[in-house]
Amino acid sequence: MMRIAVLASGRGSNFQAILERVQSGALPIEIAALISDNPKAAALAIAAKAGIPAIPLNYPSFDSPGAYRQALAETVAALRPDYIVLAGYMRILDSQMVAAYPRRILNIHPSLLPAFPGLHGQRQALEYGVKISGCTVHYVDEGMDTGEIIAQRAVPVCPGDTEETLAARILRAEHALYSEVLLSLTRTAKE
Ligand code: GRF
Repeated sequence: MMRIAVLASGRGSNFQAILERVQSGALPIEIAALISDNPKAAALAIAAKAGIPAIPLNYPSFDSPGAYRQALAETVAALRPDYIVLAGYMRILDSQMVAAYPRRILNIHPSLLPAFPGLHGQRQALEYGVKISGCTVHYVDEGMDTGEIIAQRAVPVCPGDTEETLAARILRAEHALYSEVLLSLTRTAKE
């Protein structure tokens, strides 16, 4: 069965959406662990409650960024994942990590890339005044939200939208799209 390691820094709603589909049997993958750079991340608690290994790597407690990167690399390698799934992971992966997993690291971003990369994709979309936005699942390269696009889902930007209402609409699309992409990867893995 396809194994994934999930990296998340915060709330973990994308992780939870994937987890629910795994638990229901709709998504035949194994979640090897949830790793977080933030020991307070709600994502860790969601994993622990579901009996999935929840691994905190407290970024500030490492002596250097390099020490954190090494711990992360070793933690991920020990899990032997087929895919590394970034779900609200707020750090850029270093080039060694990216090179170690070519087309094996996925990210989800709350805009239709290449528009509005980086932080606050939803706010950027509102400020620009686009009438359609959405989300993107892409492979991770060394850039910020620049890797090859796998799938996208569009949602309308509605009159009166705030950052919150638009983010919520995009988030619903994110939750569906990420699992759809993972499901399609299980199928290509078998071919
Ligand atoms: C999502 O909007 C995702 O697109 C972005 O970070 C947010 C994570 O939310 N990369 P959650 O932690 O999955 O709820």
